[in-house]
Amino acid sequence: MALREIVKYGDDILRKKCRPVTAFDEKLHILLDDMAETLAKAEGAGLAAPQVGMLRRAVIIDVHDGKGVIELINPEIIETDGVQNGNEGCLSLPGEWHEVERPFKVTVKAQDRNGEEFTMTGEGLLARAFCHELDHLDGVLFIDKAKIVTD
Ligand code: CO
Repeated sequence: MALREIVKYGDDILRKKCRPVTAFDEKLHILLDDMAETLAKAEGAGLAAPQVGMLRRAVIIDVHDGKGVIELINPEIIETDGVQNGNEGCLSLPGEWHEVERPFKVTVKAQDRNGEEFTMTGEGLLARAFCHELDHLDGVLFIDKAKIVTD
C-alpha cells in the first residue's frame, strides 16, 4: 500500500464526472488499498477516487463505527428518507466546515471490489458520507450545497 496525494480544491479534476469501473482487477484493488491508507492517515470519513486523481466511480467510507472501511464501486443512491442538518467537511477543502442538509437515511446499491452487487443502508453520519462521496463522482462538492458559503 502507498499513500496518494489528495487533490485540493481548485483542481479541475474535482469538477469532472467519473467513468464507471469496468475492470475489477488488481489495479482497482491497489487503488482501493492506497485510498484506505490515505484516508486513515488524513483521519477523514471518506474519500472518492477523483480526490486521488482517478476519474473512476469508486469511493471508500470509514465513519469509525467499528465496521471498518466500506468500499463502494459504481454506487447509486436508490432510496432516501428523512432530513438531517449538520456540519460537513472534505479532505480536498481542509479547514472548511459548512452546514449541509442531507437525507437522514440513505440506501445505496453498489459493487464490491470483485464486482459483486450489494445494497447497504446507512443513517446519520453514514448516510451523510454516502451522499458526500457519491457527489464527488459527478464533480459536485459539499460547498455547492452548503447553507452558508464564505468565500
Ligand atoms: Co469530500
